[in-house]
Amino acid sequence: MLLSCLGVLGGLLVNIATSESTFTPARPPSIPLAVKSPYMSTWFPVGSDSGNGGYLPGQWPSFYNGHTIGWAGLIRVDGNTFTWMGSPEPSRAPNANQVTFEYTSTKSIFTIEVDAKVSMKVTFLSPVTPKDLKRQSLVFSYMNVEVESLDGAEHDVQLYTDISAEWVSGDLGSVAQWDFGTTENLSYHKLWKRDQGLFQEVGDQAEWGSWYYTTDTKQGLTYQTAAADDIRMTFKNDGKLANSKDTNFRAIQDSWPAFGYAIELGKVGSDSTSTLFSIGLCQEDAIQFLGANGLTNLPSLWRSYFADEITALSFFHKDYTEANTIATNLDNMIATDSKAAAGDNYHILTSLAVRQAFGATQLVGTEEKHYVFLKEISSNGNTQTIDVIFPATPIFFYLEPEYVKLLLDPHFENQESGHYPNKYAIHDLGAHYPNATGHEDGGDEAMPLEECGNNLIMILAYVQRSRNIDYLKAHYPLLQQWAEFLVLESVYPAEQLSTDDFAGHLANQTNLGLKGIIGIEAMSQIAKLIGEDSDAQNYTTISHDYIKQWQALSHQGNFDFPPHTILTFNDPATHGLLYNLYADRLLNTSLVPQEIYDQQSAFYPTIKQPYGVPLDTRALWTKSDWELFCAAIASTETRDMFIDDLAKWVSETTTGRPFTDLFETPTGKFPESIQFKARPVVGGMFSILALQHA
Ligand SMILES: *[C@@H]1O[C@H](CO)[C@@H](O)[C@H](O)[C@H]1NC(C)=O
Ligand SMILES: *[C@@H]1O[C@H](CO)[C@@H](O)[C@H](O)[C@H]1NC(C)=O
Ligand SMILES: *[C@@H]1O[C@H](CO)[C@@H](O)[C@H](O)[C@H]1NC(C)=O
Ligand SMILES: *[C@@H]1O[C@H](CO)[C@@H](O)[C@H](O)[C@H]1NC(C)=O
Ligand SMILES: *[C@@H]1O[C@H](CO)[C@@H](O)[C@H](O)[C@H]1NC(C)=O
Repeated sequence: MLLSCLGVLGGLLVNIATSESTFTPARPPSIPLAVKSPYMSTWFPVGSDSGNGGYLPGQWPSFYNGHTIGWAGLIRVDGNTFTWMGSPEPSRAPNANQVTFEYTSTKSIFTIEVDAKVSMKVTFLSPVTPKDLKRQSLVFSYMNVEVESLDGAEHDVQLYTDISAEWVSGDLGSVAQWDFGTTENLSYHKLWKRDQGLFQEVGDQAEWGSWYYTTDTKQGLTYQTAAADDIRMTFKNDGKLANSKDTNFRAIQDSWPAFGYAIELGKVGSDSTSTLFSIGLCQEDAIQFLGANGLTNLPSLWRSYFADEITALSFFHKDYTEANTIATNLDNMIATDSKAAAGDNYHILTSLAVRQAFGATQLVGTEEKHYVFLKEISSNGNTQTIDVIFPATPIFFYLEPEYVKLLLDPHFENQESGHYPNKYAIHDLGAHYPNATGHEDGGDEAMPLEECGNNLIMILAYVQRSRNIDYLKAHYPLLQQWAEFLVLESVYPAEQLSTDDFAGHLANQTNLGLKGIIGIEAMSQIAKLIGEDSDAQNYTTISHDYIKQWQALSHQGNFDFPPHTILTFNDPATHGLLYNLYADRLLNTSLVPQEIYDQQSAFYPTIKQPYGVPLDTRALWTKSDWELFCAAIASTETRDMFIDDLAKWVSETTTGRPFTDLFETPTGKFPESIQFKARPVVGGMFSILALQHA
């Protein structure tokens, strides 16, 4: 009552008058709404840099980079209209009152009260099914809206939602086209960019493919396409839409064409009534790939399972009950395992990471020959970056190790068919997603030691979990080529970039040398698994010799207390997160003595800042993925310190973009000029579970 009176006075007063929502298990920096691929990545900004604190009524959702994505929700209760999602003409439809928010690994769930009369439960579900490629291949997401009476009385209720054409392109001046259709009890709005730009992006959004917004055809459903202002006024005035199509195809921003549904819910009492919507992107071709057959266009994998787009959307929409059960089981498994492994705060981190990690990937190819492609979201858009796959792998090792193979297969195919001239491993498969057109000139961003080490570590870890010994046989020559590079380069690493390229080049990096040496030991075990016993013996002799040298070099000249490894040899005033030590545990190589683990565990707490332990002595920023790699192999006390500080950061950071992995440890803010966001490396939150569930 109070709310509706104040509503007419304007947005500011409404916000002050509205009671606060609870946030469970934490208040994340940004809330995933529909997050399923690099091109379906719709979020709700929370942190105060760019968000409103996490209140669905009153602010527009956005693409991960902040570009507004029109997705609106109105509800009419006994003739009065309120906003439950987005920010459409707030003076005409005051914001309803959000009371709770909860996230799980796959769902974002809002409870919103309207005029103290009805309660809404709005559930955004983006399925994650890496063992079930048919379901995982669909770039679709659900929104389920349940409404029930709050005060026991029956109320007259009509529900409304629309999307804008902002979904179809990052260029608001580009012309959108659309259609409306029905199929087997479903109604759908279809929209696309008129001049399709195959494999093109604007502002990281896809310029090709068709979007579908679908709901069940039922008594009381009306639809309309029209200018956003007009269509929302029509709903406010009539409680229904005109069942009409606007065929004046025009620019996205030209009086904002909107694609709406209204549903007459009738008299709503204490039995809840639910309405399901789904949103999805269908692209016939997904990736341009330079592989064994030269340059080819790879189709989206869903095409192997479905005859056409309508069949795909129909399967997805009608699969809700099953998809919801699968999702709830996954949510429960991750919650139980996370809490058992390291407590409630650990669950805050793992469950927030799931949709983001999988949302940077896409299944492409055919049933016979398929791949997972991954975008290095936000940092530079590279395709299939090895040192971005590497920190993400703990979630894949925990949920489905085959995903690691599907991510590495295109690398083998590209490099084994002669498309890469360097002796060391390639950094990425293309300067910009969705182009995996390789680097035939060898001019990729060079991280030679990093990527050779990463590959050998990931491949052995995959084979240990899958027992796919044939995989090692098939790729042995290239694996050996990378190992030979490590043998030459790992003791005194030349001046080069590590994965932390934003911090610059360095020679003699302690942590990088360690990765190389563990990579050589991984090669020994690879050789052993396929019966190449003399290679196995040779590589293990080398790695054990090198690790002794490394132990001396990594402490050279440093007599500070407590003792710790230094960032670069002969530079006693330095230190850094020794995150590559994680691989020694992941692979069970037992190369590094326990005293080094213990020493680092004792050291990290002495240099911590309010939101974590700095990455190294060059700056006060940190990388949360590497923090969790360190946490996984630390003492319980130090592990909990890392987890507790990062969970605190999740709740308190003012960054409002999807879970950044790079922030300042004293303030929790983005560094001055770098904003990493929505990157798949948050899969590294699963570092502890990957060790326990081998
Ligand atoms: C459509 O809905 C009706 C009523 O629920 C049902 O009997 C029918 O089987 C449905 N048709 C299809 C193709 O799903
Ligand atoms: C991918 O390559 C095509 C040319 O084959 C180009 O038109 C397109 O802009 C590239 N995409 C991106 C995102 O760079
Ligand atoms: C690496 O460290 C070694 C031993 O301290 C030193 O001899 C060498 O010059 C260093 N390399 C570079 C490139 O600085
Ligand atoms: C062992 O490996 C090193 C470095 O790769 C190589 O030079 C040497 O020939 C190998 N020795 C044997 C016995 O295979
Ligand atoms: C790790 O390796 C040691 C031998 O170094 C072995 O005893 C142990 O069983 C291995 N653990 C796992 C989990 O494979």
